[in-house]
Amino acid sequence: MSHIYKNCCLLFLLISSALLFPAQAREQNAYPGINLPFENPDFEEWVQRFEREGREIYDRRHEIVDSLDLKPGTVIADIGAGTGLFTKLFSPKVGVNGKVYAVDISKVFVDNIRRLSREMGLDNVEAVLNTPDDVKLPYAAVDIAFICDTYHHFEYPQTTLASIHRSLRLGGELIVIDYRKLKGTSSNWVMSHVRADKAAVIKEIEAAGFEFIEEEDILRTNYFLRFRRIELMS
Ligand SMILES: C[S@@+](CC[C@H](N)C(=O)[O-])C[C@H]1O[C@@H](n2cnc3c(N)ncnc32)[C@H](O)[C@@H]1O
Repeated sequence: MSHIYKNCCLLFLLISSALLFPAQAREQNAYPGINLPFENPDFEEWVQRFEREGREIYDRRHEIVDSLDLKPGTVIADIGAGTGLFTKLFSPKVGVNGKVYAVDISKVFVDNIRRLSREMGLDNVEAVLNTPDDVKLPYAAVDIAFICDTYHHFEYPQTTLASIHRSLRLGGELIVIDYRKLKGTSSNWVMSHVRADKAAVIKEIEAAGFEFIEEEDILRTNYFLRFRRIELMS
C-alpha cells in the first residue's frame, strides 16, 4: 500500500513540476567538435598560429583596433580572446578607468591571458572562462563586444548572442570579424570550416536584437561588421 502511495506521490510531483517548469528547448549544437582543438591546446603553438605575419587579422591588427576608436574608460569584451592578441592591444587604449574582459571557453587560453596580463602589468584585463552557450559577463556592463575569428566557432550562436545582448549597455556595439565564405573564391578549408556566410551571419545577429550599422572596408579574406544593440520586445 505504502509502495503505491509513494509511486503516486512521485508521479504527482513529476507532472506538477513539468507543468510549472516546462523544459526550455535547448538550441542544437550548430557545429559539434569545432572547438576540440582548444580543449587542451599548447599555448605557445597557438601564439605562433594566431600572432604571425601573413594572417590577415594579425597584419591588420592596428587598423582593426584604430577603427574601434576606443576611448579611455571604455569597457570592451574580447569574446573568443584566444592567445590575447587583441586583449593586449585594447588594454592600453581603454586605460585605468576602462576594462577588457578577455573571454574564452578554453581554460588554457584564459589562464595564460591572466598570467600574461599580470606579467605585462595590464591591470584592467579580467580573464573570464565562459561556457559554449553563455559569455558569463555581468549584466549591462559592456560598451563593445568584439568577436574576431570566433563567430563561426559558436556552437550555440543564438543562446550565446542572447548572453552578449544581456551583457551590453543600451546602445552598445557588437563587432564581428570573420572569414568571407564565397563559393569559387574562398579556400576549401574556409568552405568546410566556416558554418555560415556573411549574409546568414547578419540575419542571425539581427534576429538576436541587434541592428546592422555598417561594414568596414579594411579586410579582404575577412569581413568586418558593426552592429548596435537594440531593445528586444518582451
Ligand atoms: C580562431 S580563435 C580566434 C582567437 C582570437 N580572437 C584571434 O583572432 O586571434 C577562436 C577562439 O574562440 C574560442 N571560442 C569558441 N567558442 C567560444 C565561445 N562560445 N565563447 C568564447 N570563446 C569561444 C576558442 O576557444 C578560440 O580561442
